Amino acid sequence: MESTQIQANRLYGDLAYLWPLVSPVEDYAAEARCWRDVLRSKLGPGRHCLLELGAGGGHHLSHLTADFEATAVDLSEAMMRHSRRLNPGVEHLVGDMRTVRLNRKFQAVLVHDAISHMQTEADLKAVFATAVAHLEPGGVFITSPDHFRETFRDPTVDSSTRSDGETELTFIEFTCDPDPADTTIETVLFYLIRKRDGLRIETDRLTTGLFGRQRWLDLMAEAGFRVECHQRDVGDVAAQPDLLVGTLSGAAT
Ligand SMILES: C[S@@+](CC[C@H](N)C(=O)[O-])C[C@H]1O[C@@H](n2cnc3c(N)ncnc32)[C@H](O)[C@@H]1O
Repeated sequence: MESTQIQANRLYGDLAYLWPLVSPVEDYAAEARCWRDVLRSKLGPGRHCLLELGAGGGHHLSHLTADFEATAVDLSEAMMRHSRRLNPGVEHLVGDMRTVRLNRKFQAVLVHDAISHMQTEADLKAVFATAVAHLEPGGVFITSPDHFRETFRDPTVDSSTRSDGETELTFIEFTCDPDPADTTIETVLFYLIRKRDGLRIETDRLTTGLFGRQRWLDLMAEAGFRVECHQRDVGDVAAQPDLLVGTLSGAAT
């Protein structure tokens, strides 16, 4: 079977119910602390308003809502169902991070790992324009690509087994770069779902973007941000790209 014959994006559709086992909420705590520290250092004290684009299951966001007033946008209603449960005080809206316009301004716009779903430079430019459109002068945009082209290892393989008592999920991810001349990579996902009545196996596929580090910095600068890189102080630091932090010119910071 060709990998392209595998149905794509099921993790955000019919398999979204598995998200808490795929990527548990507690795994985001350390990283969210880095984001909170950057936000505090840029915006100062106060319960600032932030917009997270591609907030998904709200796992990352759930570690920020004690300190900030949040609005969440995502394409997938199935993913946002988790976030609504975890983050009851947060406004949730369905939208595409490239085109959504809420006609409101925030002190910060965040795009966590969902930025990886941008497959072309035009996509990245569109997201940066969305961030600019929703930021007050002096506002802060933070994003965190999963990989930079320079440090991506082909193939990357990851696996885990987790259980919630009723469902045991063994999750295997295989990521490779079929065409190094383009700006995308492919992840094939296997879900081995074990319940009392037996084992079911599901497959899935995600296409994500891969860009060089300098390209990210240049495109953010072209969008109007003063850009800094902050090291993420968690996990395998060498394998993790920096947090990219853009500040809009203006009075606030
Ligand atoms: C890995 S999940 C995000 C998980 C999230 N960081 C969390 O903590 O639960 C990626 C999310 O990006 C969303 N997404 C992909 N493309 C998008 C787009 N163009 N606009 C908005 N959301 C998008 C998907 O629906 C999915 O929920």
